[in-house]
Amino acid sequence: MTLQTARPTPDPNPTNMIPRLDIRRIDRVFGGRKVVDDVSLTVLPGQVTCLLGPSGCGKSTTLRIIAGVDRQDAGEIRIDGQLVCDTVFRLPPERRSVGLMFQDFALFPHLSVAENVAFGLTGPKAARRARVEDLLDRVALGRFIDAYPHELSGGEQQRVALARALAPRPKIMLMDEPFSGLDNRLRDEIRDQTLQVLKDEGAAVLLVTHEPDEAMRMADEIALMRGGRIVQQGAPYNIYNAPVDRAAAAFFSDINVIRGRVQNLLTETPFGKFLTPGMADGAEVDIIIRPQHLRIDFDRNGRGPNPTAEEGVAARACVERARFMGSESLVEFRMDHDGSALRATVPAVFLPQPGTPMWLTIRRDRCFVFPREGGGRAA
Ligand SMILES: Nc1ncnc2c1ncn2[C@@H]1O[C@H](COP(=O)(O)OP(=O)(O)OP(=O)(O)O)[C@@H](O)[C@H]1O
Ligand SMILES: [Mg+2]
Repeated sequence: MTLQTARPTPDPNPTNMIPRLDIRRIDRVFGGRKVVDDVSLTVLPGQVTCLLGPSGCGKSTTLRIIAGVDRQDAGEIRIDGQLVCDTVFRLPPERRSVGLMFQDFALFPHLSVAENVAFGLTGPKAARRARVEDLLDRVALGRFIDAYPHELSGGEQQRVALARALAPRPKIMLMDEPFSGLDNRLRDEIRDQTLQVLKDEGAAVLLVTHEPDEAMRMADEIALMRGGRIVQQGAPYNIYNAPVDRAAAAFFSDINVIRGRVQNLLTETPFGKFLTPGMADGAEVDIIIRPQHLRIDFDRNGRGPNPTAEEGVAARACVERARFMGSESLVEFRMDHDGSALRATVPAVFLPQPGTPMWLTIRRDRCFVFPREGGGRAA
């Protein structure tokens, strides 16, 4: 549960459109282990969904099944309402109208940029040429049309690969960590440009990544995956601000955890009382707050800010150390009441001396409260 008042989840399919991609209850078993476990998701035309999760959680396997280069042990996949595969029937990969882009996107080294992009195209020569020129212009590579892959930088090759995958106008683009080979600055630029081209083409995109920042930047919807299962699905805002559990919260940022125990539907802490409705007396809870949401106040002759309903009580702490991180400062505190450590980030230069006393508050609408996993009784 969470005390966050999340913005209502927008209806992902307000017009009841037939989903471009519709995956229902997919399982994949390797060596007796379900590496994809009951995965269902839909992607609408023009929508980008990110499959986000830690290494080994089954993202690539899911993508390979959709592409048709692996088969599922249960479940079915539809594209525009048409069955593409179940456990009996399988449309071959080349008949699924699926474009692929992987990290090792190898271009054909002996073909020019134009020939690479035209590779999957059929039809009259003039129309093929026009499609190639249009796509290369849109990825800002028009001037490289007659170049060869070895004459291009990594980022330029990546954009050729995107143009090549999009050339036959696939209904669905499957992208597996396509930006992970690029350096940071280049990556942001290419992500944004790629997103624009994908939106213009109107393909439904399923993009696999293990980087939350990339998912937040690219996705209309995020499907958070763990141990083969989708544990939460929704718009980036909702996933970030209303995580389903502690691990989902921790996947997107560092978190601070304050432990407590429920008594009479409340959990009392040095930060004041927290409402914990629906939890049994004696249940152990974790109160979670992201470092950027801790409020910091200066000490005024041994006193902190006055308690309020929204922010509860301030707890006193001393600065352990402060570091400048470029776009923000990271301040580590040692709490007076139990010696525990809390971290706060401040979007400015804020470098108080170690030992400085300060007061920390937890806004009730910024924290999440979950029953402690493996902890006491929960209702
Ligand atoms: N052909 C296979 N045979 C046996 N096990 C496999 C096979 N393919 C994948 N696995 C296992 O399935 C699990 C999921 O693998 P998958 O490649 O889907 O993970 P991933 O989420 O893409 O991870 P990463 O972020 O590291 O790419 C892993 O434990 C992997 O070892
Ligand atoms: Mg993978």
